[in-house]
Amino acid sequence: MLSRLNGLVLLASTALSLSWSIGAHAAGNPADGEKKFYTCYGCHGIENYRNAYPDYSVPKLRHQHAAYIVAALQAYRGGERPHATMHAQAASLSDQDIEDIAAYLQGPEPVKPSAAVTGKTPKQVAACIACHGENGLGVEAPLNPKPPVLAAQHVDYLEQALVAYRNGRRKNVVMGGMAQMLTSDEDVKIAAAYFAGQASPLATAKTDSK
Ligand code: HEC
Ligand code: HEC
Repeated sequence: MLSRLNGLVLLASTALSLSWSIGAHAAGNPADGEKKFYTCYGCHGIENYRNAYPDYSVPKLRHQHAAYIVAALQAYRGGERPHATMHAQAASLSDQDIEDIAAYLQGPEPVKPSAAVTGKTPKQVAACIACHGENGLGVEAPLNPKPPVLAAQHVDYLEQALVAYRNGRRKNVVMGGMAQMLTSDEDVKIAAAYFAGQASPLATAKTDSK
């Protein structure tokens, strides 16, 4: 089991490269992004708003990393990440729109890693910590692609994301492998609940949230 684990981590880390470029997303204009986010508030700006069929919470976006938001919107736009509504939403966005929206949602600084942990770290997340941090706030090393903030994300959204990676519906070279390590639905639930339960600035992107 341990060698399989090491193999997977190795596989996952070779798919990553360290990126030392600073300010790669400086191109986004947050004031423009706020205006362009107007149509998005209808779902992402409402506390505990839910996706229908299947039923799960719409993800929190306020303070999510800009680099990850850019990657997510490009993947919806290009159809690599399947979700009919988000594809329709992203289809009309230009690269500049996406950069602006990401700059607005993240705010001036990306969420910083911290050592604070709520509860006991379950063995199911041992391999996740290298990239997501022990508390889902990430790690100091600048990874590319940038792993999203998991801390305080909706638990049912995290669960469905992990299931989608595991069954291949959501394709990602890193997470496809990592999700296989959560071998049962129980493991998925434990990992999702642990990260969702961590303290974090991640929040619903309400019109008045900063
Ligand atoms: C009708 C509701 C709805 C609207 C409107 C909407 N979204 Fe979404 N959004 C969702 C749902 C549901 C998901 C989760 C989809 C999935 O499971 O991949 C999502 C996912 C996302 C994600 C990925 C978050 C993550 O953690 O991976 C981003 C980024 C995003 N939306 C941005 C936007 C932007 C920008 C707009 C406006 C242009 C927008 N959304 C409009 C419902 C909506
Ligand atoms: C090698 C680095 C790495 C490791 C290890 C890793 N992840 Fe990830 N994770 C990422 C990256 C990069 C993404 C963004 C992928 C994408 O764009 O779909 C991600 C995305 C996610 C998402 C989707 C979040 C969202 O907002 O949609 C969840 C949930 C997640 N990881 C949970 C885990 C869990 C649980 C583990 C351990 C079993 C783990 N990750 C291990 C790098 C990693």
